[in-house]
Amino acid sequence: MSALAELCQEICNCQKCEISRSRTRAVPGEGPDNAEIMFIGEAPGYHEDQQGRPFVGQAGQFLSELLASIGLQRPDVYITNIIKTRPPGNRDPLPVEINNCKAWLDRQLEIIHPKMIVTLGRYSMARFFPGKTISQIHGASVTKDGVIYFAMYHPAAALHQQSLRDTIMKDMQKIPALLQANAGEAPAEASVAAAKQLPLF
Ligand code: URA
Repeated sequence: MSALAELCQEICNCQKCEISRSRTRAVPGEGPDNAEIMFIGEAPGYHEDQQGRPFVGQAGQFLSELLASIGLQRPDVYITNIIKTRPPGNRDPLPVEINNCKAWLDRQLEIIHPKMIVTLGRYSMARFFPGKTISQIHGASVTKDGVIYFAMYHPAAALHQQSLRDTIMKDMQKIPALLQANAGEAPAEASVAAAKQLPLF
């Protein structure tokens, strides 16, 4: 079994939080262990809890559309969440839950070592861009130790707001050029300058 598959099994057996008792399934994440891009959302919802897979509901459908818009499919990327168990009633994750799950995400990052980490929504943004607000930094990136960190609105935010949907679509279009630039290649179409670099990490 691969290191990533073993880790997923450990995550599925984790009972550190009270919410592990009410879940149907844990949702460790999915994708190849050599994924270049890792998308990190907030927490599993109803459908994810039922299926044990991340982003399989409406927000997930939009995420698949976003990926397709830059020529990617779900199996090309790694998709996970800040916490791996559905909070009852889809309430916000508690600080203790985020803290308990931190080591799982750390280990996923160690194994996959993605070239780009895309945060979806404020909880994953808080992990990598502490003190920032999503309205300030969405569509902006920071490169540190060769890894690009890129903040986006959560796809669920777009479900009822067309203007945010357009913003998320536009932010997504910046990803290929950022990856190419980081690999030392000239960006094909989109300009990297369009994705402003944040001064601070
Ligand atoms: N929202 C998330 O943040 N993660 C999921 O897996 C599904 C919806």
